[in-house]
Amino acid sequence: MEMHNHWCSASLFLIISCFVGFLSFPADAAVKKNQFDVVKNVSRLCYSKPIVTVNGTFPGPTIYAREGNRILINVTDYAQYNLSISWHGLKQYRNGWADGPACITRCPIKTGHSHTYDFNVTGQRGTLWWHAHILWLRATVYGAIVIMPKEGTPFPFPQPYQETNIVLGEWWNSDVETIVNLVNKLGLPPQTSDAHNINGKPGPLFPCSEKHTFAMEVDSGKTYLLRIVNAALNDELFFAIAGHNMTVVEIDAVYAKPFTTQAILIAPGQTTNVLVKADQSPSRYFMAARPFMDAPIPVDNKTVTAILQYKGIPNTVLPTLPQLPAPNDTNFELSYTSKLKSLNTPQYPAQVPLQVDRHLYYTIGLGQNPCPTCQNGTKLTASLNNITFVMPKIGLLQAHYFNISGVFRADFPGRPPVPFNYTGAPLTANLGTSLGTRLSKVAFDSTIELELQDTNLLSVESHPFHLHGYNFFVVGSGIGNFDPKKDPAKFNLIDPLERTTVGVPTGGWTAIRFRVDNPGVWFMHCHLELHTMWGLKIMEFVVENGKSPEESILSPPKDLPPC
Ligand code: C2O
Repeated sequence: MEMHNHWCSASLFLIISCFVGFLSFPADAAVKKNQFDVVKNVSRLCYSKPIVTVNGTFPGPTIYAREGNRILINVTDYAQYNLSISWHGLKQYRNGWADGPACITRCPIKTGHSHTYDFNVTGQRGTLWWHAHILWLRATVYGAIVIMPKEGTPFPFPQPYQETNIVLGEWWNSDVETIVNLVNKLGLPPQTSDAHNINGKPGPLFPCSEKHTFAMEVDSGKTYLLRIVNAALNDELFFAIAGHNMTVVEIDAVYAKPFTTQAILIAPGQTTNVLVKADQSPSRYFMAARPFMDAPIPVDNKTVTAILQYKGIPNTVLPTLPQLPAPNDTNFELSYTSKLKSLNTPQYPAQVPLQVDRHLYYTIGLGQNPCPTCQNGTKLTASLNNITFVMPKIGLLQAHYFNISGVFRADFPGRPPVPFNYTGAPLTANLGTSLGTRLSKVAFDSTIELELQDTNLLSVESHPFHLHGYNFFVVGSGIGNFDPKKDPAKFNLIDPLERTTVGVPTGGWTAIRFRVDNPGVWFMHCHLELHTMWGLKIMEFVVENGKSPEESILSPPKDLPPC
């Protein structure tokens, strides 16, 4: 696919229409959505440039469904970019056709064309989100997915009075595709973002009028469910509410063991549901988010705010700011992630694989490749086990399903080709990084343990890794090099958190386990767009079919976009 970038004239507002259809989804009286938005229209004061949106809203519409529903979404692309949408965290059982990664798993919807995503929500309930899965379009093309439990099934935590989505985003004042094309030519990283936003609004600390602030009105004494999504492209974020504790109850649409905290940490791609009780003296309180970065890498440090406003309190009352952890507070990160555990009750058991059929060890590396046309003569790149991913010419799921040879090789190495002191002194060498579209083939119903190891190639950095088509259990993590002799003894195999996107700590490792029961071709990548763009840190699992048709990939939809 080619990356065209003719940016449109300013008068043309780009719209992708999106129709959400719910089959047998009656109006739900038990839970009402409440969004108290002080501003009715998307601001053109701060954001005075054309952006790609869905239905003209920013963020885009929330998709509501119930566990067990079938969802149909017809997407018509009126923008000048080919695109595909990913339903981040939905397992898409046997149905990778509905999974999003454009030019990787499948081919995108072309400008002027439509495609209907058709999938079932099976065995999942909670907060997920959707986003464009091509170029950097997800900077503005994203929204929340709310899956309610089956009718009559309560939450495993106290029923909140009301709930609201808190979608955290990252904003550039100029057109992102223009920025990215330019820096790709120069071989440099792009400028950091200009602002963060909460539900599309940057808040009063950003030079904008106060109108561009998301506000949530609360009744004194009531408990609220906040569905928090990190839709930022590159920033892990701390989030807190002045004066109020939060009780974490769900992560990546999996119920978690509840714990109370003053702040949460959420990486791009992740979701966190928290309960908040309006138990402070009635006033106005800021909610705020700001990046976490504990590596020597530049980041947009601006704080985004929204307001928690008790009913009846006038807008003239000045809100107080919450205390967020320091931007480089590794200790907060480590202690926070150590509290994340699966709920693990008889109704919601943690079915962590106790036996492992296959052990994999992947090193995450940055590198510099020669680039004669680039400003410094080099170009930043990224790799997994020293392999930089090359985009295939046709969708890998198509290539696998239709047995088209020559598109990929199924020989992705299970460990780095040359062992070294991964997190020792900084290394600038590339260690012989090679290019390739190499996948890992795995047998149906086998179990995998994978250690993701950060390295100090150019720099250590934390990486939120996302696996399509699956949840996995985070059985362990640590700082330094993973030690296969000592570290497994410390694994949590009782109630590890089950999730879909996990942070690999800066200069450390994370171990995940999962059962391979979803046939198809499934993308795994770092959810920092910067790194994905560098070919980086990505690979795919080819999961073979099981024995029966019920364990095999569905046939492709009739309107699957051609390559
Ligand atoms: Cu949320 Cu492959 O992405």
